[in-house]
Amino acid sequence: MSVVIVGSANVDQVFRVASIPAPGETVLSHGFATALGGKGQNQAVAAARAGAAASFIAALGDDAFGASVREGLRADGIAASVRTVDAPTGTALIAVDDSGENTIIVEAGANALLELTPDDEAAIASADVLVLQLEIPLATVARAARAARAAGTRVLLNAAPIRELPAELLADVDILVVNETEGAFLARSGDVADLAPVVIVTLGAAGAVAQERGAADVRVPAPTVTAVDATGAGDTFCGALAARIAEGAGLDECLRFAVAAASLSVQEHGAVPSIPSRSRIDAWLAASAG
Ligand code: RIB
Repeated sequence: MSVVIVGSANVDQVFRVASIPAPGETVLSHGFATALGGKGQNQAVAAARAGAAASFIAALGDDAFGASVREGLRADGIAASVRTVDAPTGTALIAVDDSGENTIIVEAGANALLELTPDDEAAIASADVLVLQLEIPLATVARAARAARAAGTRVLLNAAPIRELPAELLADVDILVVNETEGAFLARSGDVADLAPVVIVTLGAAGAVAQERGAADVRVPAPTVTAVDATGAGDTFCGALAARIAEGAGLDECLRFAVAAASLSVQEHGAVPSIPSRSRIDAWLAASAG
């Protein structure tokens, strides 16, 4: 039941606005908050809160933001293999509008200097599932995936933010999670289902669909909820999914669990602050089944 996450850690600067400003426009915010975030950290917290023994490999600066990330990881019981590098901790500037939609600008900072050590590769090799995203160097993502593949650790790649991926990296991926835009970009004119043995496309308010080679598609609709902030919902989905995959649950069950976790997260503000615990997800699933 162990999940290793290799990825980014940011501190998010979140502005709440009536509507996302258009180019050249200035708008006044009606709320501001600082929250822990970064796709890697969000996924690590989501996996840990969903019940996995989670460890997180990341790079931070020697600064106050780095200290708050370390403190947050401790609070969530996440085993951190976090190195301090010569760059500021990653930050993100996020505008969230009144419908819960966002735009995000990431300054990678320390995340751009994340490299793997032989100890990291050993940790990856002894885990059940490796989770990766794309806010760190592609060479680090590829090296982690290769180490996992060699050891039989399952590789879950969340291809966000959108970027080109080398075929050799995709060949090491067992489960690819994309949104519709990322899927269309990576598949080009081909079929997104051909990109990995299991491809999961997240559909926002419509839920998610999983396409596994040789099996029927699994589609899980999302419940109707009042969304206040979609920031980190995709990361919550991936971390919760990885936790259930590590437990050996079937794809259908994993998908239902991940959709429930993401649906809970959009009802709260912030990335890490909105990630639900295992008991909340289980209670939500039980209530929807009844
Ligand atoms: O996916 C949401 C995350 O994207 C935010 O927490 C922000 O830090 C960026 O990495």
